[in-house]
Amino acid sequence: MNRFSLVLSSSVVALASSATMSFAGEKVTLYCSAQEDWCQVMARGFEEESGIKVNMTRKSSGETFAQIKAESANPKGDVWWGGTGDPHLQAAEEGLTTPYVTPMRGELNGWAISQAKSAGDKTIGIYSGALGYGYNSELLAAAGLAAPSCWKDLLKPEYKGHVQMANPNSSGTAYTTLATIIQLFGEEGGFDFMKGLHKNINQYTKSGSAPIKAAARGETTIGIVFMHDAVKQAVKGFPITVVAPCEGTGYEIGSMSIIEGSRNLENAQKFYDWALTADVQSMALQVNAFQVPSNMGAETSPSAPDLASIKLIDYDFTLYGSSAERKRLLKKWDEDVSVLPQ
Ligand code: F6P
Repeated sequence: MNRFSLVLSSSVVALASSATMSFAGEKVTLYCSAQEDWCQVMARGFEEESGIKVNMTRKSSGETFAQIKAESANPKGDVWWGGTGDPHLQAAEEGLTTPYVTPMRGELNGWAISQAKSAGDKTIGIYSGALGYGYNSELLAAAGLAAPSCWKDLLKPEYKGHVQMANPNSSGTAYTTLATIIQLFGEEGGFDFMKGLHKNINQYTKSGSAPIKAAARGETTIGIVFMHDAVKQAVKGFPITVVAPCEGTGYEIGSMSIIEGSRNLENAQKFYDWALTADVQSMALQVNAFQVPSNMGAETSPSAPDLASIKLIDYDFTLYGSSAERKRLLKKWDEDVSVLPQ
């Protein structure tokens, strides 16, 4: 063996043993429903700090709920971090997640704690953000369309084929949209709105933020998304204008829950406490995640939508996060809206 291969092989051994030592067989399986780049930052950040290996997969909120439910006889996940609060509340009600009272509670905003209290401590708020939409101002001008500023503007016939949103079955963003529209216009008026909107929709995507990424790429003119996801594209330099609809709008309490039957419960609780610290929540800014953090000491970007200046509805999380209501509304949307011709 020459000197080079000797040095190489001993450093490979050193690396391999430091990796084994650092992870020491400890692991946690993370189901992540926030944006992919933030999920990566969380997974790698926790590995570095704790030496616990993180197996992370990113799926949308409704998809993750369905996965946890399907696996409930033989749970594979430990922590569900991120995604809209409604399916986390439904998971709590259906016994798919388990109570945990974190020592971090004293550092959190009231809205994060009320989420926990309404679910018997089976979930907690990690961020919040308002719903709205964004449009590609260059495409809008090229098509000679007036700038929309209200929800009802999106029903105008001239926007046919120009609007994209996610499917409310897979996406928490789209379910929040459905629940928001019903809270604004009533059940009948809300479903009439969704039927009218359907005529203008060019595609229902799986993930909630996909429509604004498509608008940034010039593939759709308007995307219905959380405003922070639209701001992210604008900050990247795309010609995206962010709209807080004139009638008022709903919002999410992005949440975190520990999965019932978690096989790595102690590690799941370590991740949970760590994820609620100010420093960790401030890491969101590394990836331009502009939600409002639940830890009162965490940094908020000046680019983040200011929730105090947006006309927010008093979103009924108890009702729209209940198992019966979420199932009922999704079934009704499937049967009365999604099947209509466009
Ligand atoms: O992209 C981030 C985000 O909008 C979160 O604020 C939200 O909780 C999540 O995505 C919802 O994603 P989806 O609609 O795909 O379930």
